[in-house]
Amino acid sequence: MGKARERGILDIRLHQLRDWAHDVHHTVDDTPYGGGPGMVMKPEVWGEAIDAVIVGSAGEVSGGSIAEPSGGISDDGVVAGSSGESLVSGLEGEAAAVRGPVVGRTPRLIVPTPSGRRFTQSVALEYAAEPWLLFAPARYEGIDSRVMVEYASRLHVDEVSIGDYVLAGGEAAVLVMVEAVARLLPGVLGNANSVTDDSFAPGAMQNLLEGPVYTKPPVWRGHEVPDVLLSGHHGKIARWRRDEALRRTYVRRPELLPAVQDLDKADRQALADLNPDG
Ligand code: ADE
Repeated sequence: MGKARERGILDIRLHQLRDWAHDVHHTVDDTPYGGGPGMVMKPEVWGEAIDAVIVGSAGEVSGGSIAEPSGGISDDGVVAGSSGESLVSGLEGEAAAVRGPVVGRTPRLIVPTPSGRRFTQSVALEYAAEPWLLFAPARYEGIDSRVMVEYASRLHVDEVSIGDYVLAGGEAAVLVMVEAVARLLPGVLGNANSVTDDSFAPGAMQNLLEGPVYTKPPVWRGHEVPDVLLSGHHGKIARWRRDEALRRTYVRRPELLPAVQDLDKADRQALADLNPDG
């Protein structure tokens, strides 16, 4: 991500939520209506913060201080402002992410929460095609729900979960998502193909786990690299990789298999061999 930022592919900005809390203690939370444990983040503070980030970025762009204002989707269908610039802004270990503040554009607002829809590789690809992501991570029990309702009338608002567990706050979830999205931006990964071979990548790897990988030496502590990988036979290597992906998915994430698309004859045979009784 550091390289992507240096190259101007990605721009990340952090904002301190407490800058928009006006009491002496910079309070950002309050007790929940209806009672119960924990605290809820105040809507006024988030509202002012989000408004300021949106308006502030637009102002900067029109003032000419940030690269290219036009933005848009590049020819290969992925990402970015017209300069290829992306901006991720975040509000304090509570805030936002953008890719390229762009005149006349608004960010997609992403609110990490365990009760959100699941963040997946497909969602990462969707986000990578957005010019500007604004992340609003919460601490405590979450953000007053009216904030999401308010912005849903103006922005595309997503409440997303990175997995079925509860973190102490949404900041780590933002890091996870920014990293997953940033590596999909054109020019970030050395080898463009590695994105399509990833576990879960839409296409042939949708709902499949990537199999094992090896590098030199050919024998390490008595463990050998599978012969086929040294054979130079591209067709056999591709078939072996596919079989290993199916095997690994069968063993580790069997619930994914029914959703694997377009199984060919060899795939079906590989699965039948794994599960002779099934
Ligand atoms: N905040 C707390 N837990 C979370 C999770 N699993 N995903 C996203 N945000 C969160």
